[in-house]
Amino acid sequence: MPSNLPIGIFDSGVGGLTVLRHIREQMPSESLVYVADRHHLPYGKKSDEFILSRSVAIAEFLLSQPVKAIVVACNTATAAAVQTLRQRFELPIIGMEPGVKPAIEHSRNHIIGILATERTLGSGKFKMLLERHANDSELFIKPCHGWIEHIETGKQSAATTRSIVEETLSPLLTKGIDTLVLGCTHYPFLIEQIREVAGDSVLIIDTGLAVASHLQRRLEEHDLLCRSTSRGGERFWCSGSMDEMRQLLTRLWGNQAELSPLPDQANRS
Ligand code: DGL
Repeated sequence: MPSNLPIGIFDSGVGGLTVLRHIREQMPSESLVYVADRHHLPYGKKSDEFILSRSVAIAEFLLSQPVKAIVVACNTATAAAVQTLRQRFELPIIGMEPGVKPAIEHSRNHIIGILATERTLGSGKFKMLLERHANDSELFIKPCHGWIEHIETGKQSAATTRSIVEETLSPLLTKGIDTLVLGCTHYPFLIEQIREVAGDSVLIIDTGLAVASHLQRRLEEHDLLCRSTSRGGERFWCSGSMDEMRQLLTRLWGNQAELSPLPDQANRS
C-alpha cells in the first residue's frame, strides 16, 4: 500500500477532532480525511447493530478514497464495531477506549471518575477493561447527559453548558475522586468547564494523544509513514447539515477546511 495515501478518521460528529488535532500535531505531513456522521448522532443512544452498520458503511467509504489506515475516533463506535472492522478490512484500524489503565496508574487515592456515553459504559468491551485493570480502585461511572448535544449545537461556552457539567461532576467530586477519565472524544471540548468545576487537584485523563502516538507506531511498523516533508492537508466529509458542520469546523478547526457531503451510499443506516 502506498505510504502517501491519507489516514481516515471518523466519529459520530465533531468529537473526533480532539483526536485529529493530536494526529495533525504529531504527523504534520500526513494527509487526513475526516468523516463526521452527524446525521446519526448521538451514537451513545443507538443500538450496537446500528453503530456497527454505520461504522462499516463509513469504513467502506474511507476505503474507496482510498486510505492507508483508519482511526475510529469514537469510544462508542470502537466498543460496538472495531472487532468486526478488523475482521472485515485489511488495513491498520486503530480504536479508542476510556483511559482506565492510565487513570489507575496515576491516581493517588484510587478514587476515580469515569465519564463516557451510555453505550460505551454498557458495552462488554468496557466491562472487560474494568475486569482487567480495576483491581481495588473505587470507580464511579457516569454517562454525561446533554454534553454531546451542547457541543454539536455550538453551545460550548453557554451558561447552560457549565451547569450540566456541574450537575454531572458534583456527585463524583463528593466521592473524593482525584482522577477523571474523559471516555468520549467530545468531552475534551469542555475541558475549561471541567477544570473550573473539578479544580486543579483532579487529574484529567484524555487518550487522544496516546491514540495519535499508537497510530504513528502502527504506521511505522507497516512502513506506511508518509515520507513527504511538505505539510499534509485535511479533507472533511459529513452526513447531516452542511451549514451546521461548516460553522462548527470554522469554530473548532479553522476556516480553510474543505468540506463535502457524505455520498448517499455511505449514508444509509
Ligand atoms: N464521540 C463519541 C465517543 O467517543 C460519542 C458521541 C456520540 O454519542 O455520538 O464515544
